Amino acid sequence: MSEDLSYFIKGMLKTRVMGREIISIDETDSTNQDAMKLAQKGGQEGWVVVARRQRRGKGRRGKQWSSPGGQNLYMSVLLRPRISLRKTSFLTLLATVAVAETLSDYIAKGVFIKWPNDVMVTGKKISGILLEMGKDVNGEDFLVLGVGINVNCTRYEIPPELSEIATSLYLEIGYSVSVKDVLFKLLNRLDYGYCLYTSSDFDAIIERFRAFEQTTGRRVLIDVAGARISGHAVGIDEDGFLLVQDDDGKISKVISGDLQFE
Ligand code: BTN
Repeated sequence: MSEDLSYFIKGMLKTRVMGREIISIDETDSTNQDAMKLAQKGGQEGWVVVARRQRRGKGRRGKQWSSPGGQNLYMSVLLRPRISLRKTSFLTLLATVAVAETLSDYIAKGVFIKWPNDVMVTGKKISGILLEMGKDVNGEDFLVLGVGINVNCTRYEIPPELSEIATSLYLEIGYSVSVKDVLFKLLNRLDYGYCLYTSSDFDAIIERFRAFEQTTGRRVLIDVAGARISGHAVGIDEDGFLLVQDDDGKISKVISGDLQFE
């Protein structure tokens, strides 16, 4: 993505926070890492880093995020919310919803959320979200929200070990779309969700999340810090936690974890 392109997006955006500044890079290790550095140097809320390719894209739980050049969206936004850090899980929920809504502009049916923040199409993962926290030199907390969306990559650009579990927009709809358009739509959706967040309208975030999530009603197996929880997912509570009922009828609240459908 060229400098001109980010300038073009900035000129068109009607957002309040997202994309106040857009820093467009050809190649980098990780846009999350870049946004963290930017935060240390006084970067402002809403600044976005977007790259054409990442050499060491970061995934959750220390995994790598495959980031081939020019095909997909890799972006990170710097946030400095003035809301208790205890509410941060709502940020990943709203980002997941924003991605699901953006993809639904292209894919009529079949976009759903696998709790807590995987966006799936035809049962395969199409996007990943990574939220990281830091403290700047003034001792102020900040957050970096990273989003990766497989936009135009072909099946040859998906690592073989992921071919059964990952997909792209191109693979689902059969034609390429502009990464710039996807970014534009995503920033608008994120901005709307962030407004709900900063006005503490967490119920509205949960309601939107529930509209897309398809974990409830299924049998699940979740890895939570070395322990395994299995049972039926019976709902998402008002904090975004997953409620899982085991075979004895006991219901546990799961805050986060690696979930598989059984
Ligand atoms: C996951 O494991 O599901 C999260 C993947 C997050 C990938 C994105 S790509 C843009 C941003 N920069 C990174 O290094 N990671 C995130």
